[in-house]
Amino acid sequence: MFEDLEFPVLAAPMAGGPSTPELIGAVTAAGGLGFLPSGYLSIETFEAKLAHTADLTGGRYGANLFVPGSRSAADLTAHRERMLAEALRYGVEPGEPAWDDDEYPAKLDLVVQRQVPLVSFTFGAPTSAEVQRVHEAGGKVLVSVTSPDEADLAASRGADALVVQGMEAGGHRALFTDDATDPAGGEQYGLLALLRLIGARTSLPLVASGGLVHGADVAAVLAAGASAAQLGTAFLQATEAGTADPQRRALAEAGRRTAFTRAFSGRPARGMMNRVLSDLSADAPAAYPQLHHLSKPVRAAAGRAGDPEAMSLWAGQTYPLAGDGSAASIVERLRAEAKAAAGRIDRLR
Ligand SMILES: Cc1cc2nc3c(=O)[nH]c(=O)nc-3n(C[C@H](O)[C@H](O)[C@H](O)COP(=O)(O)O)c2cc1C
Repeated sequence: MFEDLEFPVLAAPMAGGPSTPELIGAVTAAGGLGFLPSGYLSIETFEAKLAHTADLTGGRYGANLFVPGSRSAADLTAHRERMLAEALRYGVEPGEPAWDDDEYPAKLDLVVQRQVPLVSFTFGAPTSAEVQRVHEAGGKVLVSVTSPDEADLAASRGADALVVQGMEAGGHRALFTDDATDPAGGEQYGLLALLRLIGARTSLPLVASGGLVHGADVAAVLAAGASAAQLGTAFLQATEAGTADPQRRALAEAGRRTAFTRAFSGRPARGMMNRVLSDLSADAPAAYPQLHHLSKPVRAAAGRAGDPEAMSLWAGQTYPLAGDGSAASIVERLRAEAKAAAGRIDRLR
């Protein structure tokens, strides 16, 4: 599926600002490929960004959709109180914790209508009928999975490839359902273990994702059977990324550990430790996207104040090893490192 790429590295879709059309365009120009996130965007903004990305990439790009889950009946009162205390620090009100589907049906209509060549889904598998619609428009379907069971379900719906997300990954876990009794929402598989387990039960192309920031990591997942590597955190500090300045500073300082939390959105996600993550995670209910809307004004106000302590600082476990510079220079470095790593394992032949 990725045989035509000069270098099988994909820029992960990163909603909330980091993945700009310029970042995707630069990664494509450097021989890889990028995915435009639709998460949290209005239809109008998503459409404009799709058009811009198509222009900058000559039509070689992907788009990413959030599959809506069911509405959680969890009691939000206590979390709302705690978020109110955070809001008061910044002189704002918490948001209304409403459920919505992130305009999924309309966003799916749009990618079908625009004939986006690669469409990746997270937080669930599209139905077989939805997969068929993408196929009829000439597109290929990728589904993010975090376990062998999710891989089976995605394959049964007709996915063309699976994005295998290890527990090292930054941002939200792609979990189809969030098991509220588990702090991480379900079993945490390391990327290599998950690649091997899923590779043993499907012949679909696999895209490896989670903690990959060095060319040796890319070489390692290709050796383990992946067709491509999808990197998020490796591009967070790229010049073309839309990453907020306080987050860029926290990444560069590399002084925080990462952990899973539902405190910001109601779904488990990996981010750098800060005050909200440390104080509000333990009792945060599994209620996505209600908690996302609740925390939104607080995150925005903290960002405006240049204060990382109440922002969602999504990052993968290996973020201290990620560099900065132009996206082209990052891809070039990855390519040289991957080549050197391939040379090192040549003695196994
Ligand atoms: C800031 C950020 C935002 C993300 N947003 C999305 C998203 O919108 N859709 C998605 O499928 N994955 C999203 N992810 C997860 C990535 O697709 C990918 O699994 C992850 O970045 C891989 O781990 P790494 O960051 O260690 O490379 C996001 C990750 C980060 C760090």
